[in-house]
Amino acid sequence: MSCDIKEVLYSEEEIQNKVKELGEKITEDYEGKNLFLLGILKGAVPFMADIMRRIDLDLEYDFMDVSSYKGTRSLGEVRILKDISTSIVGKDILIVEDIIDTGITLSYLTKVLKSRGANSIEIVTMLSKPSRRKVELPVKYNGYEIEDNFVIGYGMDYDEKYRALPFIGILDESVYLNDEE
Ligand code: IMP
Ligand code: MG
Repeated sequence: MSCDIKEVLYSEEEIQNKVKELGEKITEDYEGKNLFLLGILKGAVPFMADIMRRIDLDLEYDFMDVSSYKGTRSLGEVRILKDISTSIVGKDILIVEDIIDTGITLSYLTKVLKSRGANSIEIVTMLSKPSRRKVELPVKYNGYEIEDNFVIGYGMDYDEKYRALPFIGILDESVYLNDEE
């Protein structure tokens, strides 16, 4: 499997240091608020598990599964595949995401959550590809900004593989070129 990885971008240790740093900022900013961490399945699972334990506050957490169609269907079409069952009225929602690419998924989700009466909605993402953005999306906490490369590990997949890797790497082109044959 390691031969599928062109380059390790962030080691397990670098990721954990970054998570600690983000957790400390969030702890400061959310003191006295009703923090609700909302993870986006499935990619945000490792990041969610790590960051919630670096936030020294009472908090709630839950997950949503959202799918955005890319390529074949019209841009901006987003579906909620799994919703949360609790009310978010008056809560301070912090969306936890693995990576932001076009921004379409979270831009849609932010609108939905606003209409449900959340007190505030912010985003924490491990990675962001700013050069790929198609909609404006304010991101309050950003782990790392990266170039337009396809990355895997720490929750991120290619064809459902590589999610459980503890580091983040760039996928070797040969993996998807072989798949296209
Ligand atoms: P977008 O911001 O709506 O375009 O979609 C972001 C989602 O696309 C992320 O949550 C990932 O699930 C997926 N994604 C985008 N870029 C990558 C990548 O480089 N590797 C793995 N998944 C990615
Ligand atoms: Mg995702």
